[in-house]
Amino acid sequence: MSKEILVLAGDGIGPEILAEAVKVLEALQAEGAVTLTLREGLVGGAAYDALGDPLPEETLTAAKAADAVLLGAVGGPKWEPLHISKRPEKGLLGLRAGLGLFANLRPAILYPQLADASTLKPEVVSGLDIMIVRELTGGIYFGQPRGVETLPSGERRGVNTLVYTESEVERICRVACDIAMKRGKRVCSVDKANVLECTEMWREVATRVATQYPEITLSHMYVDNAAMQLVRAPKQFDVLVTTNMFGDILSDCAAMLTGSIGMLPSASLNAAGQGMYEPIHGSAPDIAGKGAANPLATILSVAMMLRYSLDAPAVAERVEAAVSRVLEQGLRTADIMSPGMRQVGTAEMGDAVVAALAPVQGRA
Ligand code: IPM
Ligand code: MG
Repeated sequence: MSKEILVLAGDGIGPEILAEAVKVLEALQAEGAVTLTLREGLVGGAAYDALGDPLPEETLTAAKAADAVLLGAVGGPKWEPLHISKRPEKGLLGLRAGLGLFANLRPAILYPQLADASTLKPEVVSGLDIMIVRELTGGIYFGQPRGVETLPSGERRGVNTLVYTESEVERICRVACDIAMKRGKRVCSVDKANVLECTEMWREVATRVATQYPEITLSHMYVDNAAMQLVRAPKQFDVLVTTNMFGDILSDCAAMLTGSIGMLPSASLNAAGQGMYEPIHGSAPDIAGKGAANPLATILSVAMMLRYSLDAPAVAERVEAAVSRVLEQGLRTADIMSPGMRQVGTAEMGDAVVAALAPVQGRA
């Protein structure tokens, strides 16, 4: 049966990197490895420009109806002057909330070929394989009250609220434990329990959930220490589980361990297993339109989509192997360029991945 994918290119480099991801999907489709219907929609600044809304109703409706959503990136300086409710980021946050995508999986894997591209010493990062599980529909990103008010004195007061219910913490910790069971069976829950009551509760709930997984070793870490440990000795981590905002920050940090934020895919899943897939990097307006962006994080997001939403793990592995192969061939976009390698643009990198997608021997 054909699966329906909603493609939302968004802003900045979004359309360029998504074009390469679509090339990969179309190549797989052409050889019969998958049967897909791709639809396109508007989100972010592009949607605001066309329809005055960063998340038009029709986009949300189409996203809900699709088997999976593939997203590029949103945002850019052009839309920064807009009221926060109209900014491109609202489109992304609205999709996350509207689809209930509470579980955000951000793997940070170092490809051996890129050990030199990391700003950290190769021995610190070689073999790195961390899964960051970020809560995505709660916490300070969505908590009420929020806003900026003007006090009688004329001074302004800004408020955002960190809020979690026990069930929200429970379900994300469960996702982290389920994933850890298929990996190293270690979960580190990151909080700020020494200062924030909300995360003190988070710690208690994480502990309670882990007791239902006797094989899992659960540890806790304050977020400031976790940031330090990620650059000091990142290989100590297997699965990290944390709040929306801490996960946002720590996943950028973890991304740089792998050489470039241009390499990291993500999956955002809801309770029904429906997913949205996007690179963790932003819209990079400084290089937009230049054909220089790294499409590999988006292509690797396609692999996650094949694995988590399209029930095609073998095809996912082929995409990942193809990415590994082009790195082996010495092809590099500017962000991961190192001496002796061949620098290529966005489209050339996408073409190389398609060419490297040779079927695994013995499989049709
Ligand atoms: C991310 C991004 C988003 C976030 C922005 C674009 C709203 O930084 O996906 O990490 O903060 O979640
Ligand atoms: Mg971020």
